[in-house]
This record gives sequence, C-alpha cells and structure tokens, in this order.
Amino acid sequence: MGPMAQSNHRSIGSPLPLGLAAALDGWRQRPGPLYLRLSDALAAAIEAEEILPGTKLPPERLLAEQLGVARTTVATALDALEGRGLLERRQGRGTHVAGVHGGQVEPRAADLTTTLQRNIIFRRLGDRGADAVDLLGNPAPGAAARAAVVAAAREVDFAGLMADSGYFPLGYPPLRRALAEHLTAGGLPSTEEEILVTAGAQQAISLLAAYYTKPGSAVMLEDPTFPGAIDAFRAAGAHVLSVAIQETGGAPGPIAAAMADGSVRAVYLMPTHHNPTGTVMPDPVRRELVRTSARTGVPIIEDGSLADLTLAGQVPPPLAAHGQDAPIVSIGSLSKLFWPGLRVGWIRAGRSMIAQLGQVKAVADLGTSVVSQAIACLLLGDAQRLREQRRQELGERLAILQDLLPRLLPDWTWRRPRGGMYVWCKLPDGSATELAQVASRHGVLIAPGAIMSPTGRFDDFVRLSFDAEPDPLRAGLHRLAAAWDAYATAVRDRGARRIDVIV
Ligand SMILES: Cc1ncc(COP(=O)(O)O)c(C=O)c1O
Repeated sequence: MGPMAQSNHRSIGSPLPLGLAAALDGWRQRPGPLYLRLSDALAAAIEAEEILPGTKLPPERLLAEQLGVARTTVATALDALEGRGLLERRQGRGTHVAGVHGGQVEPRAADLTTTLQRNIIFRRLGDRGADAVDLLGNPAPGAAARAAVVAAAREVDFAGLMADSGYFPLGYPPLRRALAEHLTAGGLPSTEEEILVTAGAQQAISLLAAYYTKPGSAVMLEDPTFPGAIDAFRAAGAHVLSVAIQETGGAPGPIAAAMADGSVRAVYLMPTHHNPTGTVMPDPVRRELVRTSARTGVPIIEDGSLADLTLAGQVPPPLAAHGQDAPIVSIGSLSKLFWPGLRVGWIRAGRSMIAQLGQVKAVADLGTSVVSQAIACLLLGDAQRLREQRRQELGERLAILQDLLPRLLPDWTWRRPRGGMYVWCKLPDGSATELAQVASRHGVLIAPGAIMSPTGRFDDFVRLSFDAEPDPLRAGLHRLAAAWDAYATAVRDRGARRIDVIV
C-alpha cells in the first residue's frame, strides 16, 4: 500500500558533536542577526531538553569554528543565554547547560516526569478507561495463552521454591538454563551464563541504558521506534539520535557512519518485526551492521520482543547469530507470546557483561519474582506449540483489520506488516495527536505516531494494534472511523485554525 519511506536521518559526520548538531539543526534559517539565531536555537533545544542540564558545551573558539561563525558571534550568543539563566560559565570549568528554570540544575525526578509525559501508551496503563477499546497494544492474553499460564501456575512447586530466599538477581537458575536452551533451539547458541532474566523487555532496555550511557552520551534509535526505548534512554540521561527506518527495514549507511565516527555510544534496533512498522531488516543489512559493530566496538542492542510473531514468510537469524566477535546484545520477552503480566524478559550478552548487569539488576529490584520465573520455565517447555497458536490468532485478527480498514477508512494508507501486532497508518490530512484525542472521546485508544519518534515526526501517522479479541477489534475500528469522520470534517472546516482538543 502507500509509501512509507521517510526523509533521511540527522546530519551525521558534521564536525560538531553529533548531539549538538542534531539539536541545532537548521539554526541558520531562524530570523534575526546571527548571534540571536544561535542563542534562540540553543535556548529552544535546552528548553525542549534536547540538550540536557549539565551538558558541557565546546569551548567558544572551537564552537565558532564548528559553526563557521566569528568567535564574537558565539560569545554574544552565550552571554545572552547566561543572562537568561540557561547556561552556567565558570572560570576553569567551561560552559554548562543549567536547569531549564535557571541557575540550579533541576532535581532529577522533576526532569524525568516531564520527559516521560509524551508517552501516552505508558500513561494510559496507569489510567485506564473501563469501556474504551484498546488499540494501543495492551490486550489480555488469548484463550491458548491463558490456558497455558493457568496450567503452568498450578504446577509450580512452591515448597521447593521456598527452600531458598528467592533472590536471584541474575535470574532463577532453571529459567536461565531454559532460556539458553530456547535461544539455542531457535538458532542462537547460548549458555546460561550469557542470560540475565529481567522484569520484561522494558527493564532490559532500562538496564542497558544505565549500563551504556551516562548523562549527555548519544545513542542511536530508529525513527519511528518503540516509545518505551526513547523514554528509557532519556531517563538514563542519554541524548537520543535517530535514523529513519527505510522501506527495507534498515539503513546500514547512516547507522554504520555514526558507529564509525564514534559519535554514538550504542545503537538500539528492532530488526525483526519492527515496532511500529512491522518491517524485517534484510539479512545483508544485519551482517553489515554486525561487521561495523565488530570493527568499531560500538554495541548494538537488538530488541527481539516481537520476533516470535511472524505473520508472513521466514525471518533471517538475529544479529547476534552473526556476532561472535561483535558486541551484540539481545533482548527478548515472554510478554507477546504468553502474558505481559508475568513480567519476564531477558538480556543475552557476554558472560562478564551479564555478571555486571546482575549487579545493576540487584540494585533495581533484587531479582524478578521467582514465582513468575518458575511459571515461565514451565511455559518454555511448550513454547513451540504456543507460538504457532499465537501466530494463528494474530493472523486471524490481522485479517479482520485487513477486511475492515479499507472499507471504513479508505483514504488511510498502510501496508501489511510482516510480523508483530501493529499496522502503521498514514493519515491523508490532519494531526494524529489531535485524532487520538477525538478517538478517545469516541471510546477507542490509538497511539499517535509522534510519540514513537525521537524527533517528534510522524504526526501524520497512527499505530493501530490488531491484537484484540475479534468483537472489540471490530467495534474499535468502527469507533475509529466515526472519530475520523468527525475529525476530518473539523479539519476541513477549520482552515488555518487549530482544533480545540482536550488532552
Ligand atoms: C519492541 C518492544 N520492546 C519492549 C517492550 C516491552 O515489553 P515487556 O516489558 O512487556 O517485555 C515492548 C512492548 O510493547 C515492545 O514492543
């Protein structure tokens, strides 16, 4: 269906540090004298937290060279920002970004909640409307998974588990073994020492963000990407850079370039059934990225949370299967196959890294619930059968959407995903952020594209999950069509006015 290729990535290879180059993108196009354009662009980036409090700016002379302006222009711009309380300049320490409210750096918690406000998918988890249809992608498990979890829970040997404290920061040993066998059977030879059990893939991302980044270091994510990853890296203080996901499902050039010039600390990708586009990165792209990672030492985190949910054809092996000599770290989860409520995921990495991550995990929570881990262990024994059932269930749900969407929303463009549980739809007009709010008032929850974009792009896209029971799915799509009708009419009528939407 419709074209989905997006404009290309941020300027890479600029002599400016990459994070600053991204934040200052287009500064010369602003109005006014040069110093004002520069100070306005820096102020906007600081206020939007694209440059974080505490970030050290290059020395004036260097910054002037990098920007191709006179040193006095930089000095005047920085003076103006210092006057507004956005920068702190101390003799011998250089120039640092201050807290956005001037002078002191804000307490971390205040920064963090503001940063995370955008992610309505996570926000809704804490504030769920009882009768709204959820097309955000948080369904109750289907009948097969429910039966399997119930049966496994009945089998758990509680007395045996309680012979021990149950603190296992690295993971319950039988589950680490079972996961290693599961990955090995799936074509990724693994040992239990290479596995850390986490509280879902979300915690895996957070632990890796904490492990790899310190405030101000740059990481590269796809654009669009999973919003929980944007938040986790930002929460760790990382500067999030992005690379457009191409139609092929991968763009080795820009990623490889960023890895090679040392401007990113780590790269986070979803090569198999990318969330939200459902694309699959081709094998040659995977191999090239692994080679670059081996050559540069820049780690690639591959999130395989949706990798089991193949809906068409075969998928290539994970990056880690090619990566004996490269720092490839894999993330997985049982959420999409069985039940998110188990909160069982994992990280697969080298032994010594896993041992260190175990210390980070211990500080986070002393270990995932051993009850959940024991259930997970039993479920893995039946994973192959359940994977087939799950694929069938998702295939049926996708068929409902494929039938209804062209009839109900004929001017939306989208393509059939190769896997996962989402379709990524382009609107012909209007703002998805606005539409999501109108849809919520019509009783259906959808994710606007911009929250999946580290750069705030894609406000003309929505992500729809088709992973809902057939009746609610049909009802949700009908409600969405009604919302779109109301919204599109308002867009046509308003001309240049903004629609009055209630957040
Ligand atoms: C790509 C991706 N990673 C991670 C997660 C987090 O899942 P969980 O923590 O339930 O394993 C999700 C959930 O939607 C996801 O889509």
